[in-house]
Amino acid sequence: MGSMTGQPADTEPTPKVGAAAAAAPECPKITQALVDLGHRVFTGSGNCYACHGSNAHGTALAPNLADSTWLDIDGSYAAIAGLVRAGVPHPKKHPAPMPAMGGAQLSAEQVCAVAAYVHGLGGGR
Ligand code: HEC
Repeated sequence: MGSMTGQPADTEPTPKVGAAAAAAPECPKITQALVDLGHRVFTGSGNCYACHGSNAHGTALAPNLADSTWLDIDGSYAAIAGLVRAGVPHPKKHPAPMPAMGGAQLSAEQVCAVAAYVHGLGGGR
């Protein structure tokens, strides 16, 4: 994605992942438990609901994540996790950027979990 290039190195604290992690972070296999954790992150500590809506159907600030239309990524589990890590500094159709991790401090597991949840909403590839 062109919009992902040229941005300054972020300050995400996870030390063991290199630059490639933004594109394909290592995440565990999707399980129901992971999806359930992701749902809690989405509607709670991850703040995702504030922009994407508590049912992920979107608001004026951020797109619907439950449909099959993807603006920034291809909708794969890895791509969703990478986007959550990096945020969207230059949104295509929305007025303000998505901060990395939605502006929250999420563990690597929470990032994977919320990606698994979003992937399972129906539009994931
Ligand atoms: C401050 C508002 C805001 C918050 C909080 C936020 N997002 Fe976003 N999100 C956006 C914007 C803006 C975009 C980019 C839309 C565009 O390109 O026009 C986006 C894009 C996305 C996309 C890609 C959608 C697509 O169509 O390609 C995913 C997936 C996503 N966000 C997931 C999340 C998750 C998961 C969280 C919680 C950890 C989260 N977002 C928190 C504003 C937000």
